[in-house]
Amino acid sequence: MAVAVKTNEYKTSLINNRRYLGNKYKLLPFITRVVNDECPDIEMIADIFAGTGAVSSAFTDKVVITNDLMYSNYICNYAWFSAEEYDPQIIIDCVLRYNSLSDLEDNYMTDNFSDTYFSRDDCAKIGYIREDIESLYACGSINKRERAILITSLLYAMDKIANTCGHYDAYRKGVLFYKTLELYVPLAEVHNNVDNQCYNTDANELVKNITADLVYIDPPYNSRQYCDAYHLLENVARWEKPEVFGVAKKMDRSTMKSKYCTQSATEAFEQLIKDINAKYILLSYNNMAAKGNDRSNAKISDDDILRILKQKGEVKVFSESYKAFTTGKSDIDDNQERLFLCRCFN
Ligand SMILES: C[S@@+](CC[C@H](N)C(=O)[O-])C[C@H]1O[C@@H](n2cnc3c(N)ncnc32)[C@H](O)[C@@H]1O
Repeated sequence: MAVAVKTNEYKTSLINNRRYLGNKYKLLPFITRVVNDECPDIEMIADIFAGTGAVSSAFTDKVVITNDLMYSNYICNYAWFSAEEYDPQIIIDCVLRYNSLSDLEDNYMTDNFSDTYFSRDDCAKIGYIREDIESLYACGSINKRERAILITSLLYAMDKIANTCGHYDAYRKGVLFYKTLELYVPLAEVHNNVDNQCYNTDANELVKNITADLVYIDPPYNSRQYCDAYHLLENVARWEKPEVFGVAKKMDRSTMKSKYCTQSATEAFEQLIKDINAKYILLSYNNMAAKGNDRSNAKISDDDILRILKQKGEVKVFSESYKAFTTGKSDIDDNQERLFLCRCFN
């Protein structure tokens, strides 16, 4: 496996060099073992709740289709997996230029976020860099992949220094900002598989229009909406400069909510499974139902998962223990991540 390299001029980053709730990077040995042992005849994998893209990164010997409802994740997945080629020197030159910026004027980021999640100076840098990426793209100096890689580099840099515990529900007040923004060069493959595809849509809509040998499903399992936890990364990725509200300075997210975090999760899951066209379906679903606090409780019961998958094919369940993320309000240490494998009837 490649290792992030530090050079004299710039540092480099890999796909897993970010924090993300429910990120499966640490579970890749478990996931790949199940896929390699149980699904020998696959050439194309669709990662339809892709998040960071960690799971897709374990299958780059195959065609990968990535998808996520959040634009910020689509951008990162496009950066890592798109079939479009890019010029690494363009990325290096921009990163070096961005890291040498100082004394910048006020902009959308300083006006709205100074001394909250980031210092005033880092807000000025983030706003300047994001605007510059858009200008370079608009005048044709960079292509869509280069734009995605530069935005990814900015999002990863923000994640590294944000004054939060990993998500943007709140920031600590009155802190000294001792880390400053530094962009790294993402080590993305120049030549990905030419048939790779990246989407930014509701998984329930996507599956009506794609076929794949294996569809990997990793939906949110509780009521924490990803657009709430990562509103600021989404805001910067979209760069529509919306009005922001409240102490946490969130934008309007009413069109970004996931059904998988609500009471309709089971219904959405049932329809999703019915509409999938694949040899195999592999589902990750945590077993937090009725163990943690209300907010952490799983939205789809094991009984419903099994009932729904068994209508689609033969089902096997695999499990592995791991340490759960909790907010300290509940104390759970026998948390298990399970993989439900369904070999679909044809
Ligand atoms: C548990 S995370 C996936 C983590 C991912 N496997 C990883 O390793 O980083 C769930 C993801 O599903 C996305 N999501 C939620 N509802 C969705 C929907 N209806 N369609 C597509 N993506 C959705 C969220 O934005 C989030 O990134």
